[in-house]
Amino acid sequence: MENRAVYPGFFDPITNGHVDIIARGLKLFGGIIIAVLKNPKKRALFSTKERVAMIQDIFAREPKISIQAFDGLLVDFARKNQARIVIRGLRAISDFEYEFQMALMNRKLDEGTETLFMMPSVGYSFLSSRMVKEVFLLGGDVHDLVPEVVEKNLREKLKKGKFVLSQ
Ligand code: PNS
Repeated sequence: MENRAVYPGFFDPITNGHVDIIARGLKLFGGIIIAVLKNPKKRALFSTKERVAMIQDIFAREPKISIQAFDGLLVDFARKNQARIVIRGLRAISDFEYEFQMALMNRKLDEGTETLFMMPSVGYSFLSSRMVKEVFLLGGDVHDLVPEVVEKNLREKLKKGKFVLSQ
């Protein structure tokens, strides 16, 4: 996989906004590694395994995508996987400060890593994993906001009474 980028995130769960960024990234890169943060300190609705499995399902027919869970520093993960570009989606001004800090910290940690910001379709500029969970929990329709497999998994969590809103 040459000309490879990494697209990191928590993805609890992956949304159509993330999928939109990945599709745009595929036009630029020979391969994209979707790096799913394992984070035992952060309470998540879905386990790392569940988050990875949903993403695998979505991109099962896309040979240019690989999916890996990671912990530790993102720059170390990127270097180990020969990816020098980190893709991040930028939705609104409110994202900017955090993303700017993160990009500069990553550059400080490894001068060889560059961050590339990409804008999603305007229709997803309001979308976040946190909003999806809240809307779904309160009975709203998330059909247009997440891939089918995610909607199915959200329904299952609710049915099993395992729906937590934390992130
Ligand atoms: O989906 P998110 O929560 O916006 O993703 C954040 C993520 C996973 C990109 C970020 O938390 C991360 O890179 N974590 C790994 C730890 C790290 O490298 N920290 C230093 C850079 S801030």
